[in-house]
Amino acid sequence: MKIFAHRGYSGLFPENTMLAYKEAEKTGCEAIELDCHLTKDGEVVVIHDETLKRTTDKDGAIGYMTAAELREANAASLYEGRYPFQPIPTFDEYCEWVAQTEMFTNVEIKTDLVPYPKIEEKIWSIVERHGLGERMLFSCFNHVSLLNLKKIAPQARLGALVWEEAGARAFLADYCKEYGFSAWHPSASMVTKENVDECHSVGVEVNVWTVNDFTTFTRLHEMGCDGVFTDYPEAALVWRERVNNGK
Ligand code: G3P
Ligand code: MG
Repeated sequence: MKIFAHRGYSGLFPENTMLAYKEAEKTGCEAIELDCHLTKDGEVVVIHDETLKRTTDKDGAIGYMTAAELREANAASLYEGRYPFQPIPTFDEYCEWVAQTEMFTNVEIKTDLVPYPKIEEKIWSIVERHGLGERMLFSCFNHVSLLNLKKIAPQARLGALVWEEAGARAFLADYCKEYGFSAWHPSASMVTKENVDECHSVGVEVNVWTVNDFTTFTRLHEMGCDGVFTDYPEAALVWRERVNNGK
């Protein structure tokens, strides 16, 4: 299974910072997951929530702030001085760094609550500028964003994120196939051997979030899942070694 460092190496480092991405790469895992929003002045930035409140020392909604205003927020503030000031990265800054590595990226477009105008176009133009289209998978809980991106970039790989509340039968293989989504992204509790097989039978991958324990990792491995999102990529590499060696 492919190991995606969820929001970077977020189990030990401030989530969605360049520090967390660089630390994820150092572990030797092959992929990073990150979350994109759009500022008032049209910059794509990487942060999980719609506001600054939970993860920084400032508050305010991303969509109502400029990129320069966001730059003043410390994305490492939850760690109380353990790490130096970490700015909220721009997506461009992330791409510039990741283009120099071998890492694969899952770009999650955060339009589930805020309909950021033309964010898909902006994301794709940055991806193209850095020549990263082949090394990225784009996911979103709001599948309209995936369809928007598909219009702009028919070759882009798309992952349909689904919440547990949607029900395991909703948004499954036929649905992904019909809309041209190459992957199904459920939470771990939704996954069964039957729905993994169903996805695989129509060429749809299954990547699962968020897997932070060995028992769940083993269960997903046995069901034949293709990838997992984890806050602990270093541990997940050890788990993968163990399950691959049948231990
Ligand atoms: O893409 C997997 C996972 O990141 C989805 O949930 O809330 O962590 O962005 P969330
Ligand atoms: Mg995410």
